[in-house]
Amino acid sequence: MRIVLVGPPGAGKGTQAHLLAKTLSIPHISTGDLFRANIGQGTELGKAAKSYMDAGQLVPDEVTIGMAKDRMAQADAAQGFLLDGFPRNLAQAEALDGILAEWGIKLDGVLDLEVPEDEVVKRIAGRRLCRNDGSHVYHVDYNPPAVDGVCDECGGELYQRADDNEDTVRNRLDVYHTETEPIIAYYQAQGVVSTISALGKVNEVTDRAIEALKRDN
Ligand code: AP5
Repeated sequence: MRIVLVGPPGAGKGTQAHLLAKTLSIPHISTGDLFRANIGQGTELGKAAKSYMDAGQLVPDEVTIGMAKDRMAQADAAQGFLLDGFPRNLAQAEALDGILAEWGIKLDGVLDLEVPEDEVVKRIAGRRLCRNDGSHVYHVDYNPPAVDGVCDECGGELYQRADDNEDTVRNRLDVYHTETEPIIAYYQAQGVVSTISALGKVNEVTDRAIEALKRDN
């Protein structure tokens, strides 16, 4: 399956993508995680992305689209992938359609996670991530690790993202409404969108997502 996950910052895209990717046996491709890995390794791509991420702005399309295409072209994604955080504006959605057409494949579904803004603010404020693997995501109250500050899955150190502060979160939400939300209508016109509520326990949202993907595809 080839799936796009869309939703505001803090909706639970990364959390759900990690679980859905395991269930569906496809790789979880997060452009945010790819940028953070590049920043951690000090690459040129990471240097180009950092100031945009710290400000809560989108990294320019010419950097982002090439990076996403390279990752989707890797062998483990040949039978499918779950895209988290890409595409994030209409130009990226059109570029993705072009890449898939070039490869003779198409999207199976777009999963749209709906969650009220006051909830996303609470989720982001308490989020902690694993330094070894950014797809291991926790919350200090809603989804705490067994040992404070330590990843349950690999023992890595947990940290708080630099862009999870109040001002940057406000910018990220504004950018989501102006740049990213329009891609939902774009994909609705293609008849591939499933919208679900992302409220409730993590496993309840996963069950809802799997049901929606089965029902609509
Ligand atoms: P990115 O890393 O993609 O961040 P985002 O879209 O802002 O989304 P988040 O990672 O903040 O939230 P999420 O929905 O994954 O929620 P999570 O599962 O962690 O992008 C960061 C930046 O990179 C962008 O601002 C931009 O600069 C750049 N970028 C990335 N892609 C780009 C692109 N395509 N083009 C240009 N620039 C790009 O969950 C949040 C918290 O809630 C966690 O603590 C979790 O434990 C908790 N939680 C999850 N589910 C539940 C639940 N059901 N109940 C209670 N708590 C829950």
